[in-house]
Amino acid sequence: MEAQIEALLELRNLTTVFPLKRGVVQAVTGVDLTLGRGEILGLVGESGCGKSVTMLSILRLVPYPGQTVAHGVVFEGRDLLKLPPGEMRKVRGRDIAMIFQDPMSTLNPVFSIGEQIGESMRIHGLLDGVGLRLPWPFDRSSRRAERERVLQMLAEVGIPAPAEASRRYPHEYSGGMQQRALIAIALSCEPKVLLADEPTTALDVTVQAQIMDLLNRINRERGTSIILVTHDLGLAAEFCQNIAVMYAGRIVEKGATDKVTEDPRHPYTHGLLACIPRIRGERKKLDPIPGAVPDLINLPPGCAFHPRCSFARQECLGHDIPLVEVEPGRVVRCILYTETR
Ligand SMILES: Nc1ncnc2c1ncn2[C@@H]1O[C@H](COP(=O)(O)OP(=O)(O)O)[C@@H](O)[C@H]1O
Ligand SMILES: [Mg+2]
Repeated sequence: MEAQIEALLELRNLTTVFPLKRGVVQAVTGVDLTLGRGEILGLVGESGCGKSVTMLSILRLVPYPGQTVAHGVVFEGRDLLKLPPGEMRKVRGRDIAMIFQDPMSTLNPVFSIGEQIGESMRIHGLLDGVGLRLPWPFDRSSRRAERERVLQMLAEVGIPAPAEASRRYPHEYSGGMQQRALIAIALSCEPKVLLADEPTTALDVTVQAQIMDLLNRINRERGTSIILVTHDLGLAAEFCQNIAVMYAGRIVEKGATDKVTEDPRHPYTHGLLACIPRIRGERKKLDPIPGAVPDLINLPPGCAFHPRCSFARQECLGHDIPLVEVEPGRVVRCILYTETR
């Protein structure tokens, strides 16, 4: 359960907004999340719920005019929001790496995969283990060391024939291999935390399973803590110890995976579960949640899910609904649980 693992990364009351001409986009509102050391945490919700912006906020990569405020984004005792830019650059990649949602736009088309992995290692000065090596270019022995590390990384993420593969360009890779290459880039600096934003969404199911196995192995063997961002609650259920469900920029339910999936409390979590196809067991009719994620501009107080919720009533509107602890380590943001207290 959440409380029992040592916290490695903690988001405290994180809020990120985009003030636009037509209004303020409330992309992330008051999010509390704790990633334990060695944990895989699932952040789940439909597209447009604020998952990617939450991840970008951790790394302070929210694009202009986005603004993040929080009581803290605490990583190993340091508040990342207060670090000077130079320190923050060291954290990015080296302590916390991100696999961005769209692999094709992250890889640079004009450099070979090997060059891109080497570059990432170089930036973080990991080749000699003592910070940045200047002047560049390296002498011959450090070039050889870099090349060996690159090939080792490619092999580790399951890219066949690493020597040949390292000379290839992104467009020569399949979608699955591009995703593996991105994981290799992210891992090349041996980060403690990996933010994996929809790492398998663009892939077909067999490749999806392979990539998830790879992430799982990285977690087990290297002890890398992972936030798995996905719209697929079934995927999160399979790989995560804890799950946080996000809707319209807020966490609406959070707890141990078996609790959240076997005994969901928030109507939105119920809805997500009803959308998961099952291969084993009885065939159930799939029930998509009616309606769509709201526009996050100028959201009124109250529950943003209410227009899609079969339990909705007057009290759901007009005031913020708190997260209520329904059992130890398990919180839900719904009027159904605030009243019974
Ligand atoms: N650069 C941006 N400018 C304005 N709004 C943005 C920007 N990036 C994201 N948003 C808005 O923030 C909200 C959350 O987006 P996002 O985090 O990408 O959702 P998810 O990853 O859950 O699909 C959306 O309403 C989106 O339109
Ligand atoms: Mg996203």
